[in-house]
Amino acid sequence: MRIAIVGTGYVGLVTGAGFADFGNQVLCVDVDRAKIEMLERGQLPFYEPGLDDLIARNVRERRLRFGLSLEEATRWGEAIFICVGTPQGEDGRADLKYVDAAARTIARSMNGYRLIVQKSTVPVGTAERVREIVRKHAKRGVKFDVVSNPEFLREGTAVENWMRPDRVVIGADSKRARVLLREIYSPLYLIETPMVVTDVRTAELIKYAANAFLATKISFINEMANLSEALGADVRDVAKAMGLDRRIGPKFLHPGPGFGGSCLPKDTRAMTDFARKAGVRLRITEAAVETNDAQRGIAVRKVMEALGGRKPHTAAILGLSYKPDTDDLREAPSLDIARSLLRRGVRVRAYDPVVREGAAGVPRGVVFAENAYDAAKGADVLVIVTEWNEFRRLDLARIRRVMRRRAIVDLRNIYDPASVRRLGFDYTSVGRPT
Ligand SMILES: NC(=O)c1ccc[n+]([C@@H]2O[C@H](COP(=O)([O-])OP(=O)(O)OC[C@H]3O[C@@H](n4cnc5c(N)ncnc54)[C@H](O)[C@@H]3O)[C@@H](O)[C@H]2O)c1
Repeated sequence: MRIAIVGTGYVGLVTGAGFADFGNQVLCVDVDRAKIEMLERGQLPFYEPGLDDLIARNVRERRLRFGLSLEEATRWGEAIFICVGTPQGEDGRADLKYVDAAARTIARSMNGYRLIVQKSTVPVGTAERVREIVRKHAKRGVKFDVVSNPEFLREGTAVENWMRPDRVVIGADSKRARVLLREIYSPLYLIETPMVVTDVRTAELIKYAANAFLATKISFINEMANLSEALGADVRDVAKAMGLDRRIGPKFLHPGPGFGGSCLPKDTRAMTDFARKAGVRLRITEAAVETNDAQRGIAVRKVMEALGGRKPHTAAILGLSYKPDTDDLREAPSLDIARSLLRRGVRVRAYDPVVREGAAGVPRGVVFAENAYDAAKGADVLVIVTEWNEFRRLDLARIRRVMRRRAIVDLRNIYDPASVRRLGFDYTSVGRPT
């Protein structure tokens, strides 16, 4: 099949490369010329483990190519996957301007039946909105379907998640569309991937419901961490014992500075917004967002306490990306924490294994270091914000030698409190007895 992908971000590129690997012909287009030029040079516009090899193989085997023209992609492709960004807009609602623009261009270029697949995360009712836009701008008589096929990949393990998903959700209101999508995903039937085939609105809601539930799990365990600190309990054991209950499960029960990234923050806000418009208040999701916002403040308070009264202070932040194995900084806790510290007159040095100086969103004033030890040089506190593997086994004796004051705020609980304290550090973590 000939598949066009609109948007070469984390979702579009992985999806395009994945479909090419299934044996389809794929053309990925983007409005960002710099991104397309990088891809044509064989470079990735972002960091995602394993994606470079997958792309290189499929480009080499002439199944995958890149371009700037959505018009061409629409005329060429049989199915068109919209994978553009749906960032947070005013009042938390999802901003659909990229989806609308893509829909208009697709409509004007269609020269026969097209299957338009909405893969971006969009509020319930957006497929109908896209259908209307296409109907308005397409030539009379040209047939099409608009279906919903939300994406559940996780940055850092996106290729594996995409190739072996927990499930595929297909929301389609016509038989022709359902048959085509099933055909596109047929290689996943062979590995017995569960398929949830439903109507368009339900498919759109599934994506938000899943993300809101994950966000709630994180906020719940963060509250248990705060309670554990107040009561002298250990949240690690609370989480472990909770997670062993199969109805609860162990995933997403790690306390920390709160969730970030390109999905959970904006999707929880967008869902509460479209729910309100539908006359429904989502108290649990609203509370998860509120708890998450407060968790950033708690992290900053811990750092300020560790710094004590002496000035000027320097904080060394380890890990900037919102989670390990990605360079994505969207809504990363590190940025909120760095901003708050800078506002309080703290000097901030930072090191991240993949995020480099000049990355969009990093507050001015953050000084980039070469590695963790360089970041720690002369610092009064070491703040572990993202649990990259290379931070799990730091040579703490070396860190101790280069720091000015020996304090660690471990926002990911990656160290054992007793052994760190034995080395002479003032050690604070999340939800564990001090
Ligand atoms: N990143 C994730 O982990 C993830 C996971 C699941 C779902 N999603 C959802 O998928 C969607 C895309 O997310 P992302 O992280 O890949 O976004 P992204 O910002 O990395 O990529 C979006 C791309 O779309 C391009 N674009 C915008 N308008 C265009 C147009 N008219 N024609 C062609 N290209 C256009 C942009 O230039 C950009 O390169 C969002 O709705 C997001 O919520 C993301």
